[in-house]
Amino acid sequence: MLIDTHCHLSNSDYENVDEIVKRMKGVMIVAGCDDKTNLEVLELINKYENVYGVLGIHPEYVMKKNSYKIIENNLTHPKIVGIGEVGLDYHWDKEHKKEQKQLFINQIELARKYHKTVVVHSRDAIEDTLEIVSKYPEVKFVFHCYSSSLEIAQELVKKNIRLGIGGVVTFKNSAKLKRVVEQIDLEYLLLETDSPYLTPEPYRGKQNEPANTLYVAQKIAEIKGISVDMVIAKTGENAIEQFDLPISL
Ligand code: NI
Repeated sequence: MLIDTHCHLSNSDYENVDEIVKRMKGVMIVAGCDDKTNLEVLELINKYENVYGVLGIHPEYVMKKNSYKIIENNLTHPKIVGIGEVGLDYHWDKEHKKEQKQLFINQIELARKYHKTVVVHSRDAIEDTLEIVSKYPEVKFVFHCYSSSLEIAQELVKKNIRLGIGGVVTFKNSAKLKRVVEQIDLEYLLLETDSPYLTPEPYRGKQNEPANTLYVAQKIAEIKGISVDMVIAKTGENAIEQFDLPISL
């Protein structure tokens, strides 16, 4: 089953979210970043059968007022399948590393309490991210839009952590990520789009949407020398297991 394990479907990005959802012939996991988008996630999961959600406060919003309550109050909702996207982003903001770490840790602890997967965003901050993640071996993590080295990918896999692979893998200049996809067992890969960002080829430059997950699957199949159907089936199983999705195959 084609599962986009990470996308954002906010009214502020799309003119018509309904159309975007309907075009995806598969399942989507929509991620929140702040109060506004977390509330939108809740609306979407209640409206569409094939939409699940994760709730979280993104490091970009570390200095804004956002509520943990919206997250915690909904973690028992059967269609809220994780916490995200959360993590560290030193590309956006190098000034508040301490606050970012605290925000990340607080949300990991919520995930531990409710046995949820944490969807991690890590940009220019892989060492600090690893240091924190390593302190929580009992918590399940996914590294969304994975972009670090093969060596770090291997380290994550040893900790049973899966990597979200998005449109970047289709870009010409993504040799490093292609090597990760080639070397890491399919068991540890998940498909994602990170819509509305990072549109895969052949639509790079246009607005991204979950239906484009297919192009990510095609590229992974090409790199690994296996069929697209096998990539879709296995990554679908991986996502169902990872997020405890109530879907039978
Ligand atoms: Ni994202």
